[in-house]
Amino acid sequence: MNKDILKVLVSEKEIDEVTTRLAAEIDRDYAGKSEHLVLLGILKGSVPFLADLMKKVKTNPEIELMKVSSYGGGTKTSGSVKIILDWQRDNIAECDIIVIEDIIDSGRTLSYLCEYLRQKGAKSVRTCTLLDKPERRRVPLHVDYFGFTIPDEFVVGYGLDYNEHYRNLPYVG
Ligand code: IMP
Ligand code: MG
Repeated sequence: MNKDILKVLVSEKEIDEVTTRLAAEIDRDYAGKSEHLVLLGILKGSVPFLADLMKKVKTNPEIELMKVSSYGGGTKTSGSVKIILDWQRDNIAECDIIVIEDIIDSGRTLSYLCEYLRQKGAKSVRTCTLLDKPERRRVPLHVDYFGFTIPDEFVVGYGLDYNEHYRNLPYVG
C-alpha cells in the first residue's frame, strides 16, 4: 500500500464487483431501448471508473468526455462549477446520457451538469457515481446508479486526487 494512505476504503476486488453490478444494471435498463447510449465521463476523476465500466457494459455504449472544475484545490469543494471542455453532437436529441462521476460530495457538479445537458436537449440524462458522501449533500440530486456510500472522509485513488496525486492507485484509500 502507498505509504501516505491511512487505510483502504474500497479494495480492487470490491471495485471489480461493483463495476460488474453497475454494468448489469445499465444493461437491464437500456438493452434494446436506446439508439445512442452515451457514457459521459467527467475528467479527470472518472477515468479509471469509466474505463472499467465501459468494458463491462454490453449495450454498445458510446463514450464522451467533459471537463469541469469546481474552484479551489486540495480538500475543498467550492460553490461554482465551470465547464472547461464540452462535447458537441448533432444528434444530442437522440442521446440517452449517463454521466459518470467518481464521487458526489455537495452534489453541485452533477446537479449543474444534468441541468446543462437537459437544456442542450438530451433525450434523457441519468447519473452514475462510484462513491457517494450523502452527509455532505448541499443540493438535491437524484442518483440512478451508485457504487458505495462512504462516510465524510477525504478519499484518494482510482481517479480521485489530492492536488493531482494518487489518481493512479488501483483502490480507494
Ligand atoms: P461536488 O460538486 O461537491 O459533488 O464535488 C464533486 C467533486 O469533488 C468530485 O468530482 C471530486 O473531484 C471532488 N471531491 C469530492 N470529495 C472528494 C474526495 O474525498 N477526494 C477527492 N476529490 C473529491
Ligand atoms: Mg475532481
